[in-house]
Formats: sequence, C-alpha cells, structure tokens
Amino acid sequence: MQKLADFIWLNGEVIPFEESRVHILNHSLHYGSGVFEGIRCYETDKGPAVFRLNDHIKRLFRSADVMQMDLRRSLPADLESREKRERDSSTRSSEKSLGMTEAGGNDGWSEAEIVEATLEIVRKNNLAECYIRPLVFYGSKMGLDPAGSEINIMIAAWPWGKYLSKEAVKVKISDFTRIHPKSSVMTAKISGHYANSILASTDAKNNGFDEALLLDYRGNIAEGPGENVFFVKDNQLFTPNKGSILPGITRASIIEIAQRELGMRVKEKDIKSDEIKDFSEAFFVGTAVEVNAIGQINDLKLTGEKEGEVTKKIRELYLDIVHGKVKTYDKWLNLVTEKTLQK
Ligand SMILES: Cc1ncc(COP(=O)(O)O)c(C=O)c1O
Repeated sequence: MQKLADFIWLNGEVIPFEESRVHILNHSLHYGSGVFEGIRCYETDKGPAVFRLNDHIKRLFRSADVMQMDLRRSLPADLESREKRERDSSTRSSEKSLGMTEAGGNDGWSEAEIVEATLEIVRKNNLAECYIRPLVFYGSKMGLDPAGSEINIMIAAWPWGKYLSKEAVKVKISDFTRIHPKSSVMTAKISGHYANSILASTDAKNNGFDEALLLDYRGNIAEGPGENVFFVKDNQLFTPNKGSILPGITRASIIEIAQRELGMRVKEKDIKSDEIKDFSEAFFVGTAVEVNAIGQINDLKLTGEKEGEVTKKIRELYLDIVHGKVKTYDKWLNLVTEKTLQK
C-alpha cells in the first residue's frame, strides 16, 4: 500500500506505517464489526487544530458501545503493548483536566486519552492539514460472536484533500435504499454500514454521476454515502430528519452557524425526491466533503456545474470557522500543539 504517513497509533504505541498489520482472520475485516471516525485537522493562525475532536471521540465511544466493545475496559492486543502503555502515563495525566470520561480501570481507554492520542499522532507525523481516521476493531476471531476477542484501537492521520473534486456535483438518486433504522443503529458509525454506501456510490459512478443520494425505506431523502444533505429555498435551509441518517457533526455545525451567523431558518423535515424541483440549491456536508454544492440530481439541474450563492456563503463561513478565523467558534478547535485542552 502507498505510504500515507510515517506513523500510526495502535493500542497506545506509535509504530511505523509499514508495521501496522492485522491478522487476515480479523473479525472486523470479515464481518464489518469495526467502528470508526473521520476527523479533519486544519491550519490556523495558532497552528494546526482539530475540528470538533471531542465530539468525534464521543461518537466513537458511543459507536463502540453499540457494538458492545467496551473500550473503557478492554484489553489492548497484546500484553507487551499493554505493559508499555502502563509505563507511559503521559496521556493519562491529561484526562482530568479535559473533564472527559475517566478511564474505566487500568485496562481500557478514556475518551480523553484517545483525544490526546489523536493529537499525538498528528504531531508525530508532523502534519498540518490532514484527515484523521480512528478505528476500533476486534482481534482475530472467526464466527460472528465476537465475545472474548481483544479490542484494538488505531489512529491514522494523513494529508487528504477535498473528497469531491468538482465545484458542484452531479448526483444519482440511488436504487439502493438507506439501511432501515430498525436494521441497525444509524447514529453509530459502524464499518458494516458502508457496504450500503459503497454499493450506492459505485453504482452512481458507473452511471456517469459523481455521487449517490440515498432514500430511506419510506422514500424520503436520507443522505449521501458519506455525507448529509441540505436544500435551499428562499434563504431557508431544509435537511432530512434524523432517523435513517448518520446525524453528522458537520450537519449540526452547519445548522448552528446558518442560524446564528447568517440568520437563516433551518428546518429538519421529510423530503421526497419529487420536492427537489422546488429548491434552488442543494449541497452535501460532512467531515470529508466539507461543504460541496450539488448542481444536478438525476436529470434535474439546480445550479448545474456552478455553486449557488447560499451554498457559497455557507461554505466560506464553514471554512473560515475550521481555519480558526471566527473567534466564537474557537471552542470547536483543539490545537495540536497543546498537550491538553484548555478551553
Ligand atoms: C453516512 C454518513 N453520513 C453523514 C456523514 C457526515 O458526518 P460528519 O459530519 O460527522 O463527518 C458521514 C461522515 O462521517 C457519513 O459517513
């Protein structure tokens, strides 16, 4: 595999990229039982800063809970790395001051430790702007029941530019339905959910589109394969209700900043695909995609190959905030150079 960065954080150790291997009979590889996050770090005037890191790590722990992976009490992969971690108490010392979950005994991880580990791997790789991928995964165990398996946690960070490369993308309403909310827990970011996403986005691309848009089981617009969606009408924003979507951290940020900074009304509602023609603009939001205009949905042109005015305003404001240019939102940024969060 192409080397993306120098180091990976794995179960408390920083190891060279090339040495980060798992056994081929890994439970999460076979059954999609991992849980993960996608996070971004941006350059600011004060140095690199990670956007909404605490929220992402909180969601990671919640997702792990959903999959019955007790991170707070789990054993890391092997005794050697566990002993090494216990010798290195530096990450533990910061957790109290962060006001986050305390470690559940000596064996597991607290949210604060994983926050600090995330900052550490960005520092170790000497990165400024980067994408960060924490993943919690079971060990090598065959059979669906993961009971008894070790629980691993890794964090990778590497430079990764814009997820969608066009100013405004062409989107296909997918023939694949978004996972029924009673078939899984849609608020959790579970690796297995992404089989549905991959089928939808691959099919869209094979049909000449840039990205897919999935409907839920009732025929309402749900979300993109890895993005939430917003629509614009008369300077108002509309976004699908929670239920069949991953309620994204970017989605929540956009709702807050559109209301507070731009004085816009934002409505969460059920949206059918035949309502799309009533909107003037549409855009995707998410950590990877940031804010990206949708110019066309199936045959229906909204803003074509161009980004609409409202989308532009929101995208620019979002980028200003993640780059630390709007003071009010410093609360959403963790400086990589700071060992602990002093907010
Ligand atoms: C299916 C799905 N929906 C929405 C999002 C956006 O979530 P966030 O803004 O938390 O990155 C993502 C990305 O994580 C996703 O994978």
